[in-house]
Amino acid sequence: MKVLGIETSCDETGIAIYDEHEGILAEALYSQISLHAEYGGVVPELASRDHVRRIIPLIQQVMQEAQCQADDIDGIAYTAGPGLMGALMVGAAVGRSLAWTWKCPSIGVHHMEGHLLAPMLEENKPELPFLALLVSGGHTLLVDVTAIGEYQVIGESLDDAVGEAFDKTAKMLGLSYPGGPIISKLALQGVTDRYKFPRPMVNRPGLDMSFSGLKTFVLNTWTESDQSEQTKADVAYAFQEAVVDTLTIKCKRALKQTGYKQLVIAGGVSANQQLREHLNKLAKKTSLEVFYPQPKYCTDNGVMIAYAGLLRLKGGEQDGEGFSTVPRWPLGDLKKV
Ligand code: KG4
Ligand code: ZN
Repeated sequence: MKVLGIETSCDETGIAIYDEHEGILAEALYSQISLHAEYGGVVPELASRDHVRRIIPLIQQVMQEAQCQADDIDGIAYTAGPGLMGALMVGAAVGRSLAWTWKCPSIGVHHMEGHLLAPMLEENKPELPFLALLVSGGHTLLVDVTAIGEYQVIGESLDDAVGEAFDKTAKMLGLSYPGGPIISKLALQGVTDRYKFPRPMVNRPGLDMSFSGLKTFVLNTWTESDQSEQTKADVAYAFQEAVVDTLTIKCKRALKQTGYKQLVIAGGVSANQQLREHLNKLAKKTSLEVFYPQPKYCTDNGVMIAYAGLLRLKGGEQDGEGFSTVPRWPLGDLKKV
């Protein structure tokens, strides 16, 4: 079975063809980063319009690269949510229309399930059940994964998502968007023990998290400082350490609670090198195994949507005549495959 995957939930148009036996046949990604950079974040209407411009040429490019004709495609998977309504509508409308024209089934995929399953694309895959930490621009979730599609959210951020905290912190420091990669690069030049920021909610029991207070802490520290380039790097370092430490503590607690020995990290922030180092250190000390997608599959892409869609289509699911997009969609509402 060959599935065409379409991702348009935010600011990346991601297209891919995944074959059940041969794996990834072709993939393409167009990032709108430069389009939104001057606004310091994603402008939804601009995002939708750019998806409209890019989506068909990218599908044509991927079909050509994979040497596929319409007849070769057995199913189409598109991100149905969560995400920006207009952006989701573009991918869903194109995906559903192509499926209708090509007379193949289609399926609306949950974006975070795409992220969650991305480590399965690697050679060294986790085995069910496992714990997943999903960290992106819109979500921070600790998930008990008992089966594909059977997800229990056991911890989450009560306010800002981790990626969002990186992006907002970068903006406060006068850095561009997206903030995650920029902050982590700058942090390499930071003096390690100049600032120590709070680790939010680690002294309270439970697995929930909060990152908006940390942002205020950064703002106060920055406004009261000399605002030199060195101070900027030191603040970036202290912020990243606080976030990574907090996530590591919560993972440790969730692993103890579930008894699992396998931890999956996915979503944009899972590309963060410092987070990987902290969790690898934790793994070395305990009998834990940590699984990540390769960096290009940490952030949004079409491959993870094609893969998640393939599993669901093979499991017998498919769209009806119409389609719907779901800007807010709890991961726990999904059905077991
Ligand atoms: O998964 P993703 O591409 O899109 C969403 O589903 O939101 O995640 C994007 C987020 C952004 O907030 C970005 O700043 C963050 O992931 N990010 C990182 C890194 N690379 C991307 N955060 C920290 N360190 C990174 N290396
Ligand atoms: Zn994402």
